[in-house]
Amino acid sequence: MPETMIEAESITKAFGSTLALRSVDLKVEAGTVLGLLGPNGAGKTTLVRILTTLLKPDSGRATVAGYDVIHDAVTVRAMIGLAGQFAAVDDLLTGRENLELVGLLYHLGSKERKLRADEVLERLSLTDAADRLVKTYSGGMRRRLDLGASLVGHPRILILDEPTTGLDPATRIDLWQFIEALVADGTTLLLTTQYLEEADRLANRIVVIDHGQVIAEGTANELKDQLGGNVLEVTITDQDQLEKAAAVLADLGHGPPSYDRAGGLITLATDGKAEMLLEAARRLEENGIALDDIGLRRPSLDDVFLALTGKPTEDLPGTADTRQRLDPSGVL
Ligand SMILES: Nc1ncnc2c1ncn2[C@@H]1O[C@H](COP(=O)(O)OP(=O)(O)OP(=O)(O)O)[C@@H](O)[C@H]1O
Ligand SMILES: [Mg+2]
Repeated sequence: MPETMIEAESITKAFGSTLALRSVDLKVEAGTVLGLLGPNGAGKTTLVRILTTLLKPDSGRATVAGYDVIHDAVTVRAMIGLAGQFAAVDDLLTGRENLELVGLLYHLGSKERKLRADEVLERLSLTDAADRLVKTYSGGMRRRLDLGASLVGHPRILILDEPTTGLDPATRIDLWQFIEALVADGTTLLLTTQYLEEADRLANRIVVIDHGQVIAEGTANELKDQLGGNVLEVTITDQDQLEKAAAVLADLGHGPPSYDRAGGLITLATDGKAEMLLEAARRLEENGIALDDIGLRRPSLDDVFLALTGKPTEDLPGTADTRQRLDPSGVL
């Protein structure tokens, strides 16, 4: 039997009339990565806050390494590293000072604080910037420092809330490699993300949530298989005909078509037969819609998400949130 490191059972949480979580269950086995995937407002941060003892659920139960997040909150805090959704580093301190401050929260002696700060700065390639004020850091450097702060306590269990949101692609790939190295060292990881590509790359298992409810779970491949078939991709020449083209093709798919306006690209989950491809091309021609490209491909997790929720991932507006630092001494 694999050891369960994080477990949530029937977690429910409301904010006034907003039901942020509705009877959510999840399990993360030791040494694995669970990707909690969902659009803005799905309830990801709410669940993270409950699992990290920052917020109490209305009902349900959660444990970390077997410790109850309500009754054994202090123990739980000492066992986990958390990097929240928004940077919690202090702008008016240097990178090194920020990390040493976290060491102080873990009650480390001054030698050990320096050692761990150096180690984290090195691992996150921040050594050269270590003695600069954080307010001079780029967004990517802040994100790395933030992740670094969650590592100072050498946690075996790490919870990262949207670790790469807002980063440029190169910095995102750097962080992915860094996270993969932590996991190779045996760290258990729960990671929330809106990026299907991220969950696909990093997570052993994925739990998809929307409107506070788990709507699917499995490996990336299992989720893709659930969708079945293939995806029809059509690139049209004249972007002004995008809506018309989508309407002409709509009933060939399982779900609504999605489009990328800038590229003139329409994507549709289908049963994937060759005749359907010919039918799509014929309909577009009949309607005087010129094509640059048409083809079938295997579904991505984006397609899975669209099929499950009826919403493409890009169309979702951002929401504001406040960020809290986890205080392992138990004084919040
Ligand atoms: N402190 C709060 N007071 C009132 N409503 C809240 C509070 N925190 C969260 N909510 C609401 O609960 C729902 C879930 O929010 P949550 O922040 O958990 O979503 P999320 O999946 O983290 O979204 P995002 O991807 O934008 O970070 C949203 O409708 C949000 O507006
Ligand atoms: Mg969030």
